[in-house]
Amino acid sequence: MSAPLLKIDGISKRFGGNQAVKETSFHVDSGEILGLIGPNGAGKTTAFNMIAGYLESDTGDIQLNEKSIKGKKPWDICKAGIARTFQLSKPFGDLSVLENIMVGGFVRSADRRIIETKAREVVVFLGMEAIIDQDALNLTAFDRRKLELGRALATEPKLLLMDEVVAGATPNEASEMVELVKNIRDRGVSILIVEHVMHVIMNLSDRVIVLDSGNLIADGNPEEVVNDPEVMKAYFGEKYVQQQST
Ligand SMILES: Nc1ncnc2c1ncn2[C@@H]1O[C@H](COP(=O)(O)OP(=O)(O)OP(=O)(O)O)[C@@H](O)[C@H]1O
Ligand SMILES: [Mg+2]
Repeated sequence: MSAPLLKIDGISKRFGGNQAVKETSFHVDSGEILGLIGPNGAGKTTAFNMIAGYLESDTGDIQLNEKSIKGKKPWDICKAGIARTFQLSKPFGDLSVLENIMVGGFVRSADRRIIETKAREVVVFLGMEAIIDQDALNLTAFDRRKLELGRALATEPKLLLMDEVVAGATPNEASEMVELVKNIRDRGVSILIVEHVMHVIMNLSDRVIVLDSGNLIADGNPEEVVNDPEVMKAYFGEKYVQQQST
């Protein structure tokens, strides 16, 4: 069996007295869409921040293609092939859609023409041609999310980390995002996706893992995981699980 694309081995993060992530291990296979779920405060974004180099893990190791990336800075991790979207999107408001996406391209090239050509391809892929020259400041919340995704794609990642990309989206927008994510995977990008909207996770994920209070409590196919009593307990509490089983 070939090694996983991303291997997380016993990572942890403590903030003062709060152990946000506890010796957690999981992996993402090449070509896989892995869903990461868990209640608010479970440690999902903290795990993302450790993988992407915004926080250094207190323990363990993180390997991309069998090479450790632990302790590396976000720029170097991005160069190594991991891109991420932020739970709160923050585009450069005074740059246009095209320019915002071009920002990602500088990870791969210093040639502005090459970067612009590639950024234009990303704009078409995202269906944002009509607003390509608009300032990011004037975009709808959903277009800002797409823009952020575009900036990540422009870095030509092997692995894309997506944090709550359909939060606040309409049903139509959520469906559009699901299709986009599938198309991104079909282009050979592996995806680790955090999402609270359950039908999006169920529709997209090949496999789902669950964090609860910093512990990994489940890992399996989506149906298995959502029906797991441990997972229901984490979301709804012990009482709910007892009622369901009587
Ligand atoms: N920079 C920080 N400093 C201190 N505590 C933090 C920091 N970031 C996160 N935490 C704490 O760590 C825990 C995990 O937070 P995290 O944001 O990773 O959860 P999450 O699973 O992403 O939640 P949500 O679904 O609400 O986005 C929480 O208790 C949070 O308050
Ligand atoms: Mg979060």
